[in-house]
Amino acid sequence: MCGIVGAVAERHVQEILLEGLRRLEYRGYDSAGMAVLSDDARLNRQRAVGKVAALENKLADAALKGTLGIAHTRWATHGRPSEQNAHPHQSGDSLAVVHNGIIENHETLKGELEAQGYVFTSETDTEVIAHLLSREFTLAQDLLQAVQRSVALLEGAYALAVVHRADPDAIIGARKGSPLVVGVGIGEAFLASDPLALLQVTDRFIYMMEGDVVRLSQGGSIELFDAGGERVERPTHIFEHGDGVTSKGGYRHFMLKEIHEQSQVIAATLEGRLGDHQVLVNSFGTDAEQLFRGVRQVHIIACGTSYHAGMVARYWIEKLAGVPTQVEVASEYRYREVVVPEGTLFVTLSQSGETADTLAALRFAKQRDYRGSLAICNVPGSSLVRESDLTLMTQAGPEIGVASTKAFTTQLVALMLLALALGRVRGANGEHAPIVQGLRELPGVINQVLALDGEVERLSMAFAEKHHALFLGRGAHFPIAQEGALKLKEISYIHAEAYPAGELKHGPLALVDSEMPVIAVAPNDELLEKLKSNLQEVRARGGELFVFADESIRMETSAHLHVLRVPAVSDALAPIVYTIPLQLLAYHVAVLKGTDVDQPRNLAKSVTVE
Ligand code: M6R
Repeated sequence: MCGIVGAVAERHVQEILLEGLRRLEYRGYDSAGMAVLSDDARLNRQRAVGKVAALENKLADAALKGTLGIAHTRWATHGRPSEQNAHPHQSGDSLAVVHNGIIENHETLKGELEAQGYVFTSETDTEVIAHLLSREFTLAQDLLQAVQRSVALLEGAYALAVVHRADPDAIIGARKGSPLVVGVGIGEAFLASDPLALLQVTDRFIYMMEGDVVRLSQGGSIELFDAGGERVERPTHIFEHGDGVTSKGGYRHFMLKEIHEQSQVIAATLEGRLGDHQVLVNSFGTDAEQLFRGVRQVHIIACGTSYHAGMVARYWIEKLAGVPTQVEVASEYRYREVVVPEGTLFVTLSQSGETADTLAALRFAKQRDYRGSLAICNVPGSSLVRESDLTLMTQAGPEIGVASTKAFTTQLVALMLLALALGRVRGANGEHAPIVQGLRELPGVINQVLALDGEVERLSMAFAEKHHALFLGRGAHFPIAQEGALKLKEISYIHAEAYPAGELKHGPLALVDSEMPVIAVAPNDELLEKLKSNLQEVRARGGELFVFADESIRMETSAHLHVLRVPAVSDALAPIVYTIPLQLLAYHVAVLKGTDVDQPRNLAKSVTVE
């Protein structure tokens, strides 16, 4: 939520900052702003409501010249999107700050600062930080110390970048609870919420740790201090995905590109993790085998799409490993009295590894008697990865579309590996070999499903004028139906709900009429006959049915029944395969409706606030 970028360079930084903002726009896109220190140490600022393009237009008329600056793209938390609420926020004309996160004690601090004569002009919590920094700078006469003293007074989450006229060679950055990376240049240094923002200027990054404060200064100097104020060195990582990840590669939208990458990224997620007939348990880390041996229960915690992946995993882990599994959304889990039976493995799922609710749940769990924690995550070096005992990285590569697609299917693959690994350490011996073989063949099957794109696009026309939709599935395909509904509502703004098909008659059936499309996921599994009966209940009420069905099932398109044939796949892996037509459906409906597919309204890719 919100994207930060900062640069101390040997050249004018406006273009570097603007390009960084364009690449961070997925994190928030309701307003944007930039502050640059001019050569004569004046602080110049531009802000605009709307996307980064609106700021760009303003800068085209009045460029900000200087070699040091900070910029921000916003996802509103405190105060509506407006120019006054847009970052950078200033205290007088000397100091500017950009902020990602939420300051929970901002009201108390604001009261204090107002009593001391500071005047507030915005509705944001960030302006409190600007005035606090200004006050502390007056006392310390040193920007680094002013930041260290100020962050000690902040409660909540923040990533900050600060500039001050009196220290015209430096940017100070700080992080706690929100991501911030340092980009290492040649004679230049940068800051950003995500390495992607800086790939046009560097591929070398230092991931800041919780509580770190950094001073970047002219000449490319980078000085890092830990939460206790001690000077520290952190490793520099090379970003390995290349810069191509931030382009659409000929596709109309990032989401479509990412849907079509799924075969390749699933293959990458499996690479090196399968033996001849078994999963390689040490893919989860050298301690995994010993840790997994004592696992008697699994708790899976995640949000949104990642939560749906966890719901599928429950079916798999219970079936393939015989281990009782609970799945819960992170924002609920940490606010209840959790019972942790002996031998419980705590698993978090997250694309970004920075989702505030999921991170907070991990920290909550670490205070309890879990056997260990495992993070299944897509971003190396993210907070979740750093703070977990074991990690399994998905290899989806950067996902730019706000609606998660390839991150979800790679999570499912990783979770299948977990179910197989738990099964293996509990004595499963060879009986899961067909699933291992199925995993090897999965990328090919995914390509076949992607070839259905044209057919799905034709089906999508029936949805463009609808206001509601129902998704049905049974067993492990119920969470797949939930994910299909989430995708449709996120990007097309059509109200969509999912139900286990057997639950329809207990209430939702009342909603069914010719205006309510009903989408059903129908693999050829043990629940098929039951599902067919549920679908008859819909037809009998005049509902319009869209069934994504295994190609072997005898079901033909007829009046009010549209059948899309999906290539045959084993029961175990069908949830992964059936996800794809649902993603394509949501995508094409959104395109028909003309919504902003990659950056749907009110959302942001990485939710780093609670
Ligand atoms: O980065 P995470 O996987 O932790 O994110 C969790 C959710 O915010 C995310 O899945 C969200 O629901 C997506 N917009 C779904 O498309």
